[in-house]
Amino acid sequence: MEKETFKMKGLILSGGKGTRLRPFTYTGAKQLVPLANKPVLFYALEDLVEAGIRDIGIVVGETAEEIKAAVGDGSRFGAKVTYIPQPEPRGIAHGVLIAEPFLDRDPFVLFLGDNFIRDGIVPQVKEFRRGGMNSLIVLTQVKNPQELGVAELVDGRVVRLVEKPKEPVSDLAVVGIYMFDHHVFEAVKSLKPSPRGELEITETIQYFIDHGLEVGHHLLNGWWIDTGKMEDILEANRLVLETIKGEVKGRVDEHSTLVGNVVVEEGAEIEKSVIRGPAAIGQETRIVNSYVGPFSSIYHHCQVVNSEIEHSVILEHCRIEDMEHRIENSLIGRHVEIARSPMKPRAYTFVLGDYSRVGVL
Ligand code: DAU
Repeated sequence: MEKETFKMKGLILSGGKGTRLRPFTYTGAKQLVPLANKPVLFYALEDLVEAGIRDIGIVVGETAEEIKAAVGDGSRFGAKVTYIPQPEPRGIAHGVLIAEPFLDRDPFVLFLGDNFIRDGIVPQVKEFRRGGMNSLIVLTQVKNPQELGVAELVDGRVVRLVEKPKEPVSDLAVVGIYMFDHHVFEAVKSLKPSPRGELEITETIQYFIDHGLEVGHHLLNGWWIDTGKMEDILEANRLVLETIKGEVKGRVDEHSTLVGNVVVEEGAEIEKSVIRGPAAIGQETRIVNSYVGPFSSIYHHCQVVNSEIEHSVILEHCRIEDMEHRIENSLIGRHVEIARSPMKPRAYTFVLGDYSRVGVL
């Protein structure tokens, strides 16, 4: 574990509206979307702890109760978590502003709770700790700069930041992981709401540049996912599953086979089944007489019996039984039941929520 050379705090933003989680649900915190069966927010907490940061504030909004229930006091992650309520989502920089009593004058990492980076933040935190910078931002090349904050570099230095530019100034997006010293408070206090009505983090960093404060940047090698924008949950889940190591904490009977990296969480039971990794089987989930193929995550308390599933994400408390054909490329929300209906007349019976999509054979 890294020795603290100077005190650094963490601030995770998990507020915002509980929307845009389509197709799973319209409500609920987007920071709790599971990737490889783990809420995306948990990876942020783990990244901070891995970088030696344990004193962590979490800004919460209308989904506060859900976030608190999932994270608790942070001890499970080796962290001490302080919740900071944000009455309205008035911008990322507003989240920093209201966190001033928690942050005090300590340098900190600001981590957007819906961001995920493959390789963690240890190198960036080390660079910042070496000193000489008032802020460090993380940049990566993207195909969709108009949807993100974008940085313009001249001679290897950040000279300008633009939030979601209509005409791209570069293809270097600002990743939702930033480091600041105490100058951030004079910066956020100087801001006026942007055209979208928010105090913008890009303008905060622009203040640093305009006032001669040192802004370093780190170019990311590994991939990055902004799950808030992610249209393709299956693809994000696939990327994260590719990074996991197999581990069996549940029970696998002697008639079952696990191939490759398969996580079987506590209380899960695999009976007479084949699981081909990378795949994750959640707590208390039962897989019986079934096949679960690569790039599948089946969350906790599910039951899969006499069925085949591949390249799919299945959320908690689902029951899938006696499927005649393999389920593939599917996203299945919470408490969903899919089973054969023996009743006459022979027919499909559906209870589907808004925007559901079903493909039948
Ligand atoms: O993901 C990187 C991008 O994040 C950056 O490139 C942009 O410069 C930055 O402005 C931000 O853009 P988004 O439009 O994607 O931010 P979003 O509204 O999705 O908020 C990001 C996270 O912060 C999300 O987990 C919700 C939380 N949040 C957001 C706002 C506006 C809060 O906790 N409070 C807020 O007031």
